[in-house]
Amino acid sequence: MSGTERPLGRSGVSVPALGVGTNRWNTGEPGQARLNETLAAALDVGMGFLDTAEVYGFGRSELAVGVAAQQDGRPVVLASKFAPLPARLTTAQFESALDRTLKRLGRESLDLYYLHFPYSLRGVDTWMKAMAKAIEAGKIGAAGISNCNVAQMRTAADVLARYGVPLAANQVQYSLLHRAPETNGVLDACRQMDVALIAYRPLAGGAVSAGSRKNKGSAALVDALQEVAAAQDVTTLQVALAWLLKRDEHVIAIPGATKPDHVRQNSRALTLELSDEEFAAIDRASTPTPTR
Ligand SMILES: NC(=O)c1ccc[n+]([C@@H]2O[C@H](COP(=O)([O-])OP(=O)(O)OC[C@H]3O[C@@H](n4cnc5c(N)ncnc54)[C@H](OP(=O)(O)O)[C@@H]3O)[C@@H](O)[C@H]2O)c1
Repeated sequence: MSGTERPLGRSGVSVPALGVGTNRWNTGEPGQARLNETLAAALDVGMGFLDTAEVYGFGRSELAVGVAAQQDGRPVVLASKFAPLPARLTTAQFESALDRTLKRLGRESLDLYYLHFPYSLRGVDTWMKAMAKAIEAGKIGAAGISNCNVAQMRTAADVLARYGVPLAANQVQYSLLHRAPETNGVLDACRQMDVALIAYRPLAGGAVSAGSRKNKGSAALVDALQEVAAAQDVTTLQVALAWLLKRDEHVIAIPGATKPDHVRQNSRALTLELSDEEFAAIDRASTPTPTR
């Protein structure tokens, strides 16, 4: 494990502390050539951890990631997600969804597979049993959940433990404009249970950046980010990502990107060291946190 890698809990799988979110791969624009370059850039800068899901672009994101990974040829850590849609009730449906995901990605196994959300007639426990079976079958390396609260995390971990499988990760929304994991117990639970917190929308869709028109009512945060960015000769987005990584060693962030330059810029956060004073100034300036 290199200095910029972090473990997915006790799963034995490690990933770069920053990955690449692909929920807009491929919605037609950008084209595959640019996505290939984006994945190659991620591997060049040590961010070869791609986050996709079967529902992104109705499978087109997984297809685009698979094509880009095959085109590049270097090893890349891949994560995808099972959506427990209302008509999905059986572990056979889980298995066939996973098989279709693997086919689209052109892989025999996935490094990490998540339950995309907990809302399901069958509950988290049914899908965790299916996860444990998929690990036993060698189709996935680690089992995760997403958008789950603390009670759902504990249920998932308990069910997996019956099969000797640790819960690897909970993927939840977490950024300086959405700090709910700090107040709803999820970050504390990740620490206590040794589960990775995979931060999605870590840039709040770009809104944490200074001057963004989407940035609502956070002038103090923008000022604090700008001050640190100027002192460190980096950008405000790089500071925002570095802040998340410094917040806790269980945090791993997956900023979405469809451009190689954005990936290269984000990678600076892997080595950017914020002082305790800089961290605290941004902490104080950050927006009030909702509990959900
Ligand atoms: N589990 C879930 O329910 C869930 C829900 C939402 C998202 N996610 C995952 O989380 C990932 C990230 O979330 P997100 O993509 O919605 O939001 P995000 O990461 O907060 O922001 C992505 C946006 O920031 C831009 N960006 C990235 N790096 C930049 C840079 N260096 N400079 C300027 N702009 C930059 C991207 O532009 P370009 O596209 O132009 O590069 C894109 O518009 C998704 O891709 C997905 O994999 C999971």
